[in-house]
Amino acid sequence: MQADDRLIVALDVPNALEGLRLVEKLGDEVSFYKIGLGMLTGGGLALANELTEMGKRVFLDMKLFDIGQTVENAVAGLAQFDLDFLTVHGDPNVVRAAVAGRGDTGMKILAVTILTSLDRNDLDVAMIRDGEIQGIVTERARLAFLAGADGVIASPQEAAMIRALPEATGKLIVTPGVRPAGTNTDDQKRVTSPAVAINDGADHIVVGRPIWRAEDPLSAVRLIKTELAAI
Ligand code: C5P
Repeated sequence: MQADDRLIVALDVPNALEGLRLVEKLGDEVSFYKIGLGMLTGGGLALANELTEMGKRVFLDMKLFDIGQTVENAVAGLAQFDLDFLTVHGDPNVVRAAVAGRGDTGMKILAVTILTSLDRNDLDVAMIRDGEIQGIVTERARLAFLAGADGVIASPQEAAMIRALPEATGKLIVTPGVRPAGTNTDDQKRVTSPAVAINDGADHIVVGRPIWRAEDPLSAVRLIKTELAAI
């Protein structure tokens, strides 16, 4: 089966060597990988380089957050690698600094709105303003777009609301928390299927454990691609 760019496989395996093994196992059937913080502290940047040399697309999930100048410098450093997507927290100052740092490279800046692991109580403790989370997520997405973000990371439950924003025209929505029917939801609380996520306005879905933990990762990939092909 041909690769489908809409599927991004999260390489959340313990180290770069295992990451490379999985990439080799999936071969031409997967074209896009996400490297997260866990992998970054264990050779993830070198792995990202290897992947781009293999012709793969790479999403670096770094969720940067710092003062503007530091974010700009960090992103300018990363922009030398041939990365497709980079995440930063969706505060407008951070987004603007990241967009300045990537300059005229093609690296897309994706904003994290509110981490899906947080509930209203967590937001209260962090002194984040009152109101229901979905409204805050949508407003943060809107502000991130206005600050120049190329897209946002959203839970599939938020994708449709964000897609409906006028500011979201031409912007990317990338959704984790996706599970094909009949697979384990792990610790994801609000999951949806690949087809529903795309139909709700996501451009890409990120899937990790249902693939890398599967006994046969290639079959797991094919199951998802078959669902996507039928949309
Ligand atoms: O294994 P699973 O498919 O749940 O992996 C989803 C990936 O997306 C993980 O790398 C996880 O860190 C990431 N992610 C997430 N929810 C967010 C942001 C990122 O699940 N809100």
